[in-house]
Amino acid sequence: MTCSVLVGGAWGDEGKGKCITYLCDNDKPNIIARAGVGPNAGHSVEFNGEKYGLRLVPSGFMHTDAKLLIGAGVLVDTDVFFNELDYLGKYKLKGRTHVDYRCSILTEDHKKRDKGSEHLFKKIGSTGSGCGPANSDRVLRTAKMAKDIPELEDYVSDVALETNEAIDNGEDVFIEGSQGFALSLYYGTYPYVTSKDTTASTFAADVGVGPTKVDEVINVFKAYITRVGEGPFATEISQEEAEKLDIEEYGTVTGRRRRVGLFDMDLAKESCMINGATQIALTCVDRLYPNCAKTQDYSDLSADTKSFISDIETATGVPVTIISTGPDLKDTIDLRSELL
Ligand code: GTP
Ligand code: IMP
Ligand code: MG
Repeated sequence: MTCSVLVGGAWGDEGKGKCITYLCDNDKPNIIARAGVGPNAGHSVEFNGEKYGLRLVPSGFMHTDAKLLIGAGVLVDTDVFFNELDYLGKYKLKGRTHVDYRCSILTEDHKKRDKGSEHLFKKIGSTGSGCGPANSDRVLRTAKMAKDIPELEDYVSDVALETNEAIDNGEDVFIEGSQGFALSLYYGTYPYVTSKDTTASTFAADVGVGPTKVDEVINVFKAYITRVGEGPFATEISQEEAEKLDIEEYGTVTGRRRRVGLFDMDLAKESCMINGATQIALTCVDRLYPNCAKTQDYSDLSADTKSFISDIETATGVPVTIISTGPDLKDTIDLRSELL
């Protein structure tokens, strides 16, 4: 039995979607539970030549034997939820996808307040998805809950109970976080952050799992860093430099051009410490070291890449167990068996 929590190591978009897809396809957990803020997230999932963008439903949806759960801490936008159920229709989500009855509901009014706010939308550079105002209504105790919404009647359950029963029965549970460490309301670059803590402890709490039940915390980093929205970014490089390195990027949810920077060892250390990381997944290694594209064997990585990986392990004290060398699930080096 293993209960794992996957987290983003920096400002989101670390390639969590690819890692979750790989891990769920490989390990086939019984429960895949979505934690994190809400539909401000955008996870990209690519397999068998198909590409999906997800904001709410767990990214492990393609593992059709798993229950897909959304924890009580996650904000639910019913439009996004039902659109994703339709969009992913062939994966038979109905009957195995449940929202905790305690989830707060994100409304049109929250989206209007987010997009209309000089402070949130303009100064902070929010995604405009309504998450900040919805979380503030939850704190003010005026937000509606999933159990009060008739259209969700067939989809609500006690996610915390289901997840804890699964753990007690020796089943595997995979908790997928969203956003990233540096966007945490407590530990990130406040005020240029999201509306909630985004570290492993909060992700476990989002789903209703206590800290003593968590076995592994997988911290996902990209080989370089990107950030959307405003705020400090110590290792940022210019757009021209990013283009030269061929690492420019655009957002999944907002289409905004992402700011780009080099890997930040100090951030990685702090992120591993506060998340209590037990493993690191390193993505987009091929984009920084094109000679590693699609490599599936550690011994075939270039000396430069190996030394970069070993520097990360030395600085953080955490082993790099997953190395992603391309968007496809096959483009993955999995070193987890070496930990045993
Ligand atoms: P999260 O927000 O962390 O879930 O990241 P994401 O999945 O949203 O990342 P993003 O939207 O930035 O998309 C990343 C893109 O890169 C997707 O098209 C992925 O399929 C792809 N990708 C993921 N890992 C790798 C990798 O190791 N190499 C390359 N070349 N592409 C990757
Ligand atoms: P909000 O969460 O929409 O309020 O946005 C606050 C900040 O967090 C902005 O800088 C957003 O760009 C950033 N943000 C929120 N969610 C994500 C995400 O999933 N990936 C990357 N940035 C995000
Ligand atoms: Mg993303």
